[in-house]
Amino acid sequence: MTMTKLKTRLLAGLTAALLLSAASIYVAEAQAQTAKAAAEKKKAPKREPDVIFVPTPQAVVDKMLEMAEVKKGDVVYDLGCGDGRIVVTAAKKFGVKAIGFDINPVRVKESLDNVKSNKVEHLVTIKEEDIFTLDLSEASVVTLYLLPDLNVKLMPQLAKLKPGSRIVSHDFDMRGAKPVKTHRMNSNGNEDESGEHTIYKWVVPWEKE
Ligand SMILES: C[S@@+](CC[C@H](N)C(=O)[O-])C[C@H]1O[C@@H](n2cnc3c(N)ncnc32)[C@H](O)[C@@H]1O
Repeated sequence: MTMTKLKTRLLAGLTAALLLSAASIYVAEAQAQTAKAAAEKKKAPKREPDVIFVPTPQAVVDKMLEMAEVKKGDVVYDLGCGDGRIVVTAAKKFGVKAIGFDINPVRVKESLDNVKSNKVEHLVTIKEEDIFTLDLSEASVVTLYLLPDLNVKLMPQLAKLKPGSRIVSHDFDMRGAKPVKTHRMNSNGNEDESGEHTIYKWVVPWEKE
């Protein structure tokens, strides 16, 4: 083989190797993009949440559970559980079973982390669900921090709770249902008639307004 032929073959071999490695980089990048898109899709809610996440201050959480008169044997549901603070508190303070539901997988992950760091996995379950599809019959206490219209939209589901079940809502009433108790407070936990937080309590079956 002449020197020129050898050089041509070497050059062709080198070009082929370069093309192959460029192609495998391209394929690897495309695979990484697909995996990233799949991970993003998994993190996104199945549909837009009906209300954004705003956490209830801990002092208000404590008062909501106190007003609900949570006791041994109760099952607490938080509809739209955010970072899981209400269900975690119910389990830690009262040793009751509690289930938190949220439509947003990011919130579900935060709740699961919260449950784990507070070591209440034996009592608390977190589910990625749309609250408007739930059967609430197992709950004896339901906590809400949604919006007035969402509370009203939940009424057909809430009306099926066992008699004596308690519903407590942070800040928002439930048009058409007369609360048995309301409580105004500030975030420090002090009762305050001009405080920025109101808690509403109903007992099933509620009195119509
Ligand atoms: C205002 S935050 C309340 C969080 C928590 N309950 C608390 O009091 O700290 C409302 C939560 O409801 C969730 N949410 C909104 N629409 C929902 C739906 N249709 N089903 C389930 N969760 C929903 C949001 O993702 C958000 O985390």
